[in-house]
Formats: sequence, structure tokens, C-alpha cells
Amino acid sequence: MAFSLFRLARFIRSIFVPTASIVAFSCLLTFIFVLYQPTPGPGSIQKLGWQSWDVVSEGSSLASGGYAESVEAGSTGSESGSVPEGVDWWNVTATETVDTASLPLDVWDPLMQHDTGLSEIHITDCMVDPWFVPSVAADFCFPSSTKEDDATKGKWVRVERNLKEQLSLKSLNVYYRRTRRHDIPLITELRVLPDKETPSPFSHAWKRVAYPVSPRGDKRYLWYKAEKTWREMTEAERKNSLVTEIDVLFGSDQPWYGFEKVDQAVYDGMRNIEPVWLTYRKGIKPPPRAPPLHFSRDGRFKVMQVADLHYSVSVGSCRDTVISPCTASDNLTNTLLGHVLDIEKPDMVVFTGDQLNGQGYTWDGRSVLAKFAKAVTERGIPWAAIFGNHDDEDGMTREAQIKYMQGLPYSLVEEGPKDVHGVGNYVLKVKSADPSKTHLLTLYFLDSGSYYTGVWDWWGIFHPTEYDYLRQNQIDWFLQESSSIDAIERPFIPDGAKDLGGIWARQNGQVVPGERRLAKPNALMFFHIPMQESYSAADVNPATGLPLDVGQHDLEESGAAKKQDGFFHKGLLQALESDHRAGGRATEVKVVANGHCHVTENCRRVKGVWLCFGGGGSYSGYGKIGFDRRFRIYDISDYGETIRTYKRTEHDDIVDDMILAGRAAPPPYEGTA
Ligand SMILES: *[C@@H]1O[C@H](CO)[C@@H](O)[C@H](O)[C@H]1NC(C)=O
Ligand SMILES: *[C@@H]1O[C@H](CO)[C@@H](O)[C@H](O)[C@H]1NC(C)=O
Repeated sequence: MAFSLFRLARFIRSIFVPTASIVAFSCLLTFIFVLYQPTPGPGSIQKLGWQSWDVVSEGSSLASGGYAESVEAGSTGSESGSVPEGVDWWNVTATETVDTASLPLDVWDPLMQHDTGLSEIHITDCMVDPWFVPSVAADFCFPSSTKEDDATKGKWVRVERNLKEQLSLKSLNVYYRRTRRHDIPLITELRVLPDKETPSPFSHAWKRVAYPVSPRGDKRYLWYKAEKTWREMTEAERKNSLVTEIDVLFGSDQPWYGFEKVDQAVYDGMRNIEPVWLTYRKGIKPPPRAPPLHFSRDGRFKVMQVADLHYSVSVGSCRDTVISPCTASDNLTNTLLGHVLDIEKPDMVVFTGDQLNGQGYTWDGRSVLAKFAKAVTERGIPWAAIFGNHDDEDGMTREAQIKYMQGLPYSLVEEGPKDVHGVGNYVLKVKSADPSKTHLLTLYFLDSGSYYTGVWDWWGIFHPTEYDYLRQNQIDWFLQESSSIDAIERPFIPDGAKDLGGIWARQNGQVVPGERRLAKPNALMFFHIPMQESYSAADVNPATGLPLDVGQHDLEESGAAKKQDGFFHKGLLQALESDHRAGGRATEVKVVANGHCHVTENCRRVKGVWLCFGGGGSYSGYGKIGFDRRFRIYDISDYGETIRTYKRTEHDDIVDDMILAGRAAPPPYEGTA
């Protein structure tokens, strides 16, 4: 026993040195090759998202607040000096200077204002849409390149728009290289030409992309001209003739703001298949910004509500109208909208949801967003928008739509706080024209969501059964926003009224001294899906004994959600105009404006709050024969005290002109909430 123990000990001692050295060596290897490796860290697999580049403008705007912040900053940051004598405070051309040198070169984002040119274009046809498997697609679908080409001409950037979107499962994409080098010829012209044709006048600077750009039908090729390097160009050429971005448009309407169509479509379209266009931008074209919202000098501000446009990628198809023949309903609606805008000349337009038709018709949301507001943007009118239940049905998220809507001219759209239900819960304030910039009117915008619940059928198609509703955290958000609004002395008398001479003399008659009080400015609220209270019993006018309910209703079923969190009682009725109860329980929000129900257009007062519908204004949305398309106007006067509303129809009739708030309005609600 002792013997074998001794032998075991000797055996262990004999293997100790080799074992120890193997273990030590392994440790060393592990240390050198695994532990000691200076890794690039988790950042190596992260790609710097474009959000990080969201706001690269210097000056007034700040990263988090987006455009509205910059508008605010523009208005408040100009207390002294920055607004010259004789210029209105809102007439400040906020110069957005983009630091283009810091924009990433390898990210495709048509909203980014790049002034860096492109050096080469390629087209690839890929079996899989790279969107599904980005890690693999990079190897399979990107054009080949060398380190040298990457370094001189720039890395390949994929234009994330599939030219075969509506035609097949494959993915036909344009790729380009973008470079800041000064010794590489840069692209200044693009052409789409049939096979065997060459651009004229022809020069050797023209290059043909080897793979056809046409998604189907006759082969068409993309030609591009890269003749001069940045160094050889004049300053004007660098600014105006460099192609700085490429995009794709579906349908036959206008391209994105700042972009132009290449002379010929890459695909002409067929009966149910939309044309496909390549579009490009030359130089930088930042969209003009809306000036801060303000009343006119004589105290007026007019808002026009545009409800339920239901636009599609196509020109749209007419519904429920006697117009005959009726083709291209989106075009007809746009013409009608333009006509009403020209007559009404509103200071602001609010799109109250369902701008996009959804239901499969808006499979390319960007092409629809490019056109939906054009009647408004062409006229330079500031506009806001909220979402309806159809807007994101076809896949483009609300967040993405907000981002793109902010990239359109005169947009006041905001995303709102991320921790509140929905996208696009925000507040805009309308100020006085005098230098006091007093806040005279509040506009609340809420996202009433789309569908609360529904069922999935065997084909994987979702059939919604219940509409969404305003959630508890939206109530909390509203109450918080409302509580942060300062009371003003009402009715408001502008600063420097003495300078206004005639105008103020007129106003004098309307303001009765002794009625002045400290209260929050009146507010309007916009959201798409009505509350259940829109169908509750109307207040009775004590003067006439009649219900306060004007306009057509009950032509269709209730559009309200089945569930609710009590927005009306816990939100609207709690936010009062003033803490001083002597003046009654006037709510801060005087009017709620909804869309959603195209053949409902009444204004009903419930417990002191007017609940109004816009009524459908689009030939592309459902309607009813005999029910004219219409738009609702809110005409606010007396520096925010008087709210008047009416509807203008497609036949230019003015319907139900009435005063909702102010001296000529029906007597206030006397009951308890
Ligand atoms: C803004 O001010 C400029 C002069 O500084 C003037 O030419 C222009 O008409 C003003 N625009 C508006 C809308 O008042
Ligand atoms: C609709 O309007 C667009 C843009 O103005 C135009 O290109 C298109 O031809 C129009 N379509 C019809 C059918 O009127």
C-alpha cells in the first residue's frame, strides 16, 4: 500500500512539470490572443445611426426639440437687436446652416442636405431584399469594390428603394459612391435611355451603368456624366450642378421636395402598376421653414381643417360622387383643396389624419407624403398634421412619417414625447403680432391611434375590430401641458395699441372694460378618432331651449372607440381656463376637432366643450351621394377671444356659420362637470 502510494506520488511529480507548463502556456496564449486583444468594443458592430446626425445645423436649433424648438428659439431668442427696426418679429429668416463636412458619406438619407458629389453609379438585382438580411446582403448584393476604389471614389451606398417594389420579390437597387476628394470626376447629369441609344450631345464623360435600370419591360439604361473634378469646377457649378442625392418615386405625381425627375421614367406603368421614376437633387435644397405662428395685427388667425384625404400612390379612384367622368380623385381633391385655400387664405392648415389611404394603396408611403400637402406647401401656408387609423397601415411607421413630414416645406409637425402613447402628441402656440409676443391661442394635437384590437385570419391578414382611444398617459400629458400654460390678461390688448390708430379704434367697441380677467388663452384640440362623448346628449341652450348641435350627423355609425380611459371627464373637463371659480367653470379647450367620419360634420356642445367633425374633403375617401365634400374653417378673432366656425363645400357654399366661443356665443354651460 505504502509502495503504491509512493509510486503514485512519484508519478504525479513526474507529470507536474509538463502539465504545469502546458497549463501555463495555454494561459499565456489565452492572454495574448484573447484577453490582451484590444477590441474595438461593442461600437464595432454598431453603426452610427443617422439619428446621431439628425440635427447638424448650427445656430438656434437644439438637438432634442427639432424644428419647433428652433422656431421657438427664433422667436424668443431675438429679444433685442436681432430683429431690425420695422421688421415684424416673426419675419426672421432662420438661416439653417448645415455643417455638410460632418455628414456621413455612407448613409442614404434623402433628407440629409449633402453638398458632396457622387462619383460612380451602379445597379444590382438581388435575389433577396437586403432589408431582410442586412448582414448577408452586404456581401451578396453590393457591387464589388476594391480598397483603392473605396478610398478614392467612396464606399458604395445603397439607395434603399426597390425599383421592383410592386413587380417582384427581387430587389433592384441603385448604388452610388460619394466622395469628398477633389481629384475625382463628379456626376452632374443623369439620363434614362432605351437600349442602344446614347445621350446627345455625346462625350466620353458619359458612362452607362451596365445593368438595366428598368424593373420590367423594354430594357432602359441609366447614363451618367462625370466630366469635371471638384477642383476643375467653378464655384457656381459646385453649388448648382453637382448631383448630390438619388431617390425613387412611384406614381405620376411630384417628386420629393428639392428633387427632380430624370427626363424619362425607368418604367412607364401599366393598368394597375404605377410608373417608376428615378429622381435626383442638385446641390442642397433645405425646405423653407414656417415662421412662428402669430395673429394678424388686428387680432385674427384662421385655421383650416383638412380631414381624411385618403391619398394613394396612384392618382386615386373616385368614391361616392356624382362627378362624371371622375378619374384621378387625388388630383381632383388637390385641385379642390387649392381652390378653397385660395379663397379662404388660412394662416394655418391642420391635416387631421388619414392623409394616407392605407389598405394596400399606400405601399410606398414616401411617394404619397411627397404629394399630400402640395396644395398647402405651394402656397407657403404653415401646416400641422396628426395621424388617423389608416396612415401607417401599409407599413411606414408613424415615426418615419413624422421625420419625412418635417422635411417638407412649412411643416410644423412634431413627434412629441416618446413616453406618451402614440406619435405626434404636441402643442403649438399662436402669439400676438405686437412685440409682446403674448401667447393668445393654444393648439393641442394628439394621436388617437389606429386599432385597439382585431383578429388575424388564416392568411395572416389583420382585421381590426375596435378603434384605438386616448390613453391614460395622454390624459396625464395633456393636463401637464395645460398646467404649464401661463394665464394672460384677457381680453388681450396689444402693446403699442396707440400706434395702430384705426385698427384699435375698431377693437375698442368690442372690449368691454370690467370684463378683464386673468385666464389661460383659449385652446383648440385636434385628434382623429372622436370620443364617445361626441355622441352624448348635447347641452341645451337656456335662451332657446334647443340643443346645441349644428350640422349633419347620424348618417353613419358612431366612429368612436368602444373603450376609453376617460379623456373627456378626466382630461378636458379638468383643465380649466382659470383657477378663479368666480367666472364659472370654463374649460381651457373650447373646441375639439375630429376627422374620421366623412359624412358627419356637426358641432355639438357637451358640458361646455364643442365637439366638432370636419367632414370629408376628399373624393378618394368614402362619402355619400348628395353630401358635398367640405373643409371646416376655424376663424379666430378678437385676439383669440372669439372662435367662429363654418364649412366651405365643393360648391363654394358656406354652411353652418356659427360662433362657438366669445361674446356672441351661446350662454356658457351652467351644469357641473
Ligand atoms: C420681411 O421683412 C423684409 C424686410 O426685412 C420684407 O421685405 C418682407 O416683405 C417681410 N416679409 C413679411 C412676410 O412681412
Ligand atoms: C395628376 O396630377 C399629376 C401631377 O400634377 C399629373 O402628373 C398627372 O398626369 C395627373 N393625372 C391625371 C389622370 O390627371
